[in-house]
Amino acid sequence: MDGQQVLELNIKCFGWFLSPDQVKFIRGVDSRAPDYFALYAVEDETVQSQVGVVTLDTQSASGVEKVGYIWGVATRPSFARKGYAKKLMEKAHERLSAEGIRYSFLGTGKSLVAYHLYQKLGYKDLTLLKRGLKRCKAQEQGDISFNSKINNEIIVDLFSEYSKNLFGFIKRPKNFLEVRKAWSWMPYDLVGGFFEGETPIGYVVASTEGKVIKIRELCCPKIEDINKCITALESESRFEYMVLECVIGSYGISAFMESGFNLFDESWGVLMVKDLTQGNTIEEIRNSYGFEEMKFHMTSIDEY
Ligand SMILES: CC(C)(COP(=O)(O)OP(=O)(O)OC[C@H]1O[C@@H](n2cnc3c(N)ncnc32)[C@H](O)[C@@H]1OP(=O)(O)O)[C@@H](O)C(=O)NCCC(=O)NCCS
Repeated sequence: MDGQQVLELNIKCFGWFLSPDQVKFIRGVDSRAPDYFALYAVEDETVQSQVGVVTLDTQSASGVEKVGYIWGVATRPSFARKGYAKKLMEKAHERLSAEGIRYSFLGTGKSLVAYHLYQKLGYKDLTLLKRGLKRCKAQEQGDISFNSKINNEIIVDLFSEYSKNLFGFIKRPKNFLEVRKAWSWMPYDLVGGFFEGETPIGYVVASTEGKVIKIRELCCPKIEDINKCITALESESRFEYMVLECVIGSYGISAFMESGFNLFDESWGVLMVKDLTQGNTIEEIRNSYGFEEMKFHMTSIDEY
């Protein structure tokens, strides 16, 4: 595939600088990239449309469930409405089904024309992708300290402790944060740990912009520690506002509300899923991922 044309398509459609070097880098670090990682429609020797696919393990009530996750759905504006994206999506579904994969996930906005494409293809809303906001207050330094340097092994251990009884997007490779950085379209520039004495009790992955911190994931094996970690971040006095990016239904969100986040009741963002076998209703899929029992896990760094 012509890497320069792929780069131009991604800049035109998303403003995403997906250079050939970056594609090579992503494929090198992300073990979730299958050989059909990106599918292209080419006409007149020009790349007109793209659909990307990763495959990853999730945990459902019945065991490990390998699923597909669609990324980078894009068509050149001058070639829109010719059925390219739809055909590429169908091709992606065929490849996933050929591997015995049942579910294909994707994140989108209900305000985008793509939402209608996905509905037409049989995708259903699984849950909403929302944001919460908290205005920081001056806080005394408490028992919990924040350190903006934390070893990846501590993060891996904290996440595995936190997720051991949960379902959903909990099967992460050890180099997960490196993988997420490689994708670059949802960047983070702050990874830090929370410590009670010497003991790590949680970590945060966030992007910062001046006095605003956008929390992509803040994880504590003991959910009641979330409040203490938020207070520790506030006591740093670096931030005026905290924005929380979250997946509704994911475990622990109520702890953020208890620590003062106003979770907005509306959003355009949506996580959709298609059952490629058409065997399960959306309620059955939600149940198998533990939504009812409040055992589902997904944060914004799990999104592709
Ligand atoms: C979304 C996008 C990839 C669609 O590409 P496309 O090749 O034009 O899509 P298709 O021709 O396969 O359209 C299939 C169906 O999607 C829906 N659709 C596509 N474009 C639409 C539009 N402008 N308005 C309403 N529905 C539309 C229609 O149901 C269409 O079927 P129809 O033409 O028979 O009515 C393209 O608009 C795009 O690149 N958008 C910008 C990037 C983006 O938002 N990507 C999705 C991120 S989640």
